[in-house]
Formats: sequence, C-alpha cells, structure tokens
Amino acid sequence: MMEKIKIGVLASGGGTNLQSIIDACESGLLKNLAEVSIVLSNNENAFALQRAKKHGIKAVFVDKKSLKDMDSFCDELINLLNENKVALVCLAGYLLKLSRIFVQKFKGRIMNIHPALLPKYGGKGMYGHHVHEAVIASGDKESGVTVHWVDEEYDHGNIIVQEKVPVDPNDTPETLAKKVLKVEHKIYIEAIEGFIKEINRCC
Ligand code: GRF
Repeated sequence: MMEKIKIGVLASGGGTNLQSIIDACESGLLKNLAEVSIVLSNNENAFALQRAKKHGIKAVFVDKKSLKDMDSFCDELINLLNENKVALVCLAGYLLKLSRIFVQKFKGRIMNIHPALLPKYGGKGMYGHHVHEAVIASGDKESGVTVHWVDEEYDHGNIIVQEKVPVDPNDTPETLAKKVLKVEHKIYIEAIEGFIKEINRCC
C-alpha cells in the first residue's frame, strides 16, 4: 500500500474545512491516502486548533508577535511543516499572506479554498462575510467555490476546481454562506484527492 500523504493545514478560525479534511482522512474519500499531520494557526483562540487536538493531531499556535517580522513568522511555519514531513499544505480559512520564501519552498503544493468564483470577489480584504455581502450587493445570480494553487498574491494562483452555487432572490449573506460552505466541504476533498492520485500516478 502507498504511504499516506501528510497534509499540513493552516487555519485562522473555526475550521469547518479542516474538519471535513480530517473526516475524509479518517473515514471518507481520503482514507488510506492522506492524514493531517499538523495544524498551524496564527490565532491562539482558533477553534480549528481544538478540532485538531480532539483528533489527536498536533496543533500549534504560532505567535507572530513573538517573531521579528512576517518572514520570520513564515520561516517558523516552514520549519514546523518540514519537521512533520508535510507534502501538501492546505489553507483553510487562513487569513495571513505567506512569504515569498514560503510560497517558493512549497511551490505547487499549497492549496487554498475561496468562497466565490475567482477571479471575482477575491483579493485583500475579501474573506468571510465580506465576500458574500459583495455577491448579494452585486445582484449576481450565481456564486460558488474555488480551490486554487497559492502564489504570492491573494486569491490569485491557478484554479484547480470550481463549483457554482445559485444565488436565490431571497438569499442573505448568511444563507448564501451556508450553501457555499456545504459545497466547500465537498470540493476541497475532491481537489486533494486529485492531487494525491496525480502524485501517486507519476512518482
Ligand atoms: C471558508 O469560507 C473558506 O472558503 C475561506 O474561509 C472560510 C473558512 O471557514 N477561505 P472554516 O474556518 O473552514 O469554517
């Protein structure tokens, strides 16, 4: 049997996407293919850290205030990911920008999930409820989910997969967020599975 791919997840908040990745590794599509080896957060109170601990997964708060600058912060993340032999980095509601060095070290191995159809509604400040509020305000009839590779710009790298979600006339940012999140939990796992199948095929 192939060795399981080790995933490192970076999360700043609640971590429902982290939860879906953990669940998929334990008993879903990623069973026997992958395991979450470490969860990192810049937020001491991120519920994502609790979720990881509950599953016996190493969960580390990295305090950016204790480090010189963002490059040093990212260097710390790189060390932790390497120490834990992470092959794929998944951003799951991670709100800080990664350093150029980080992106280069894990080039082609960092995925992000965004709750809209990029390139629309992406970029700095476009996260969480801001995205859904902007979609509703625009009058767009559809929104959706994007999983993409991470490069040095916010929400910018090549798209791996997208799925549309209809916006109903009576949707609010909250109801839209709920519908979008449900799709997020499905397509993030499919994107990860695709990555693993690809590396298992070619290496
Ligand atoms: C999700 O909507 C994701 O697309 C975005 O941040 C949110 C994180 O939600 N990048 P959760 O913490 O996974 O519940």
